[in-house]
Amino acid sequence: MMQILVLNGPNLNLLGTREPEIYGATTLADIEADCVAHGASIGLTVNCAQSNCEGSLIDHLHAARGTMSGVIINAGAYTHTSVALRDAISAIALPVVELHLSNTHAREAFRHISLIAPVCVGVIQGFGARGYILALDAIKGHLTRG
Ligand code: DQA
Repeated sequence: MMQILVLNGPNLNLLGTREPEIYGATTLADIEADCVAHGASIGLTVNCAQSNCEGSLIDHLHAARGTMSGVIINAGAYTHTSVALRDAISAIALPVVELHLSNTHAREAFRHISLIAPVCVGVIQGFGARGYILALDAIKGHLTRG
């Protein structure tokens, strides 16, 4: 089975209680369990990680090189600020799908810019927790059909 890393960034450990009107009521543990189950149903082994630290997210991306076939990342606020995360995504030369629970384009102007989008194969946002399932389907399609 192809190995996929589902990587969540800062403050996403608080999902379920964090601004549920924006991010929904589903916890990160529930999202991760759904990702593992859905991944298995479409032939993907899903590995999940979360960190609030920029450097740790970069370490997870480096570790994915050579072990994972692709990555789904919700980089949280680092999406809008982190050149280092963008460089890490470029460096590992793996297909990476950028994901957001909310539609960042419908929010504050500072969320309209993604520094990582240009180095990702695609972006899924605005569909809440369902977006992770959509992202798994998308990366499976990308890996198997190009
Ligand atoms: C987010 C959107 C980001 O702008 C924000 O900083 C987050 C969550 C989302 O999933 O909608 O932490 O990535």
